[in-house]
Amino acid sequence: MEKIIDQTVDYLKGKGFESPQIGIILGTGLGQLIHEIDIITEASYNHIPNFPTATVEFHKGKLIYGTLEGKTVVVMQGRFHVYEGYTLKDVTFPVRIMEKLGITTLLVSNAAGAINLNFKKGDLMLIEDHINLQGSSPLAFKGVELLGERFTDMSAPYDTAINKSFKTIAKNNNITLHEGVYASVVGPQLETRAEYRMLKIIGADAVGMSTVPEIIVANHLNLKAAAISVLTDECDPDNLEPVNIQDILDSASKAEPNMITLFKELIRSL
Ligand code: HPA
Repeated sequence: MEKIIDQTVDYLKGKGFESPQIGIILGTGLGQLIHEIDIITEASYNHIPNFPTATVEFHKGKLIYGTLEGKTVVVMQGRFHVYEGYTLKDVTFPVRIMEKLGITTLLVSNAAGAINLNFKKGDLMLIEDHINLQGSSPLAFKGVELLGERFTDMSAPYDTAINKSFKTIAKNNNITLHEGVYASVVGPQLETRAEYRMLKIIGADAVGMSTVPEIIVANHLNLKAAAISVLTDECDPDNLEPVNIQDILDSASKAEPNMITLFKELIRSL
């Protein structure tokens, strides 16, 4: 795998991706952050050697390199999910590439359902810890020990100093920022009422279909990592409405300006 990583990194360096400091995965609810970046260069996922979509036509995803709030950043516009048929190793390959390019910090956003019913649709939640319910690990492959510690420590997967800054920034800007545990499932189907009840019992505050694999690999590579969820629906098993994807996307875009403020100010402070 090291050779494959080097080949991809060489390609990107040749395209001008020079020593970024921060990696950002733009999930649902943060897409507009792209307009705040002074773009220096970019590469389509399907042109990047060894990227999961290198053989798939029409994937719109791009890797972008530029500056934001005085820092050099590499940004994933579009991420990979297990529910699209990718393996956990595929989903997290870009994190290994961003690390090899030079990032020391990884920032992630996503959309999630609120399991904790004190949290409301449209609110933001800082991820303080997670539960991996994707059925496997992105570190479960031969040779993983050549890339980092196989038995990766998970006692504090989300950087406490960054999370503290996020909370201060939220307070200073009058932004509601809950804190909680994110459970990640495979999807793409939404959860049953019984599953929402189970998620609550096991200690989840929110549920989504991403982020945990990337955070595990960030920890494998000793990156500082942080993630924020935009809560797009309230998962009340006793009053569950059929899910409306448009409604989920609308809630995510409503919360987007706050999410952008948090990320921009955090990056400025790093
Ligand atoms: N479940 C899983 N993923 C989600 C949800 C949900 O309720 N809402 C947004 N992403």
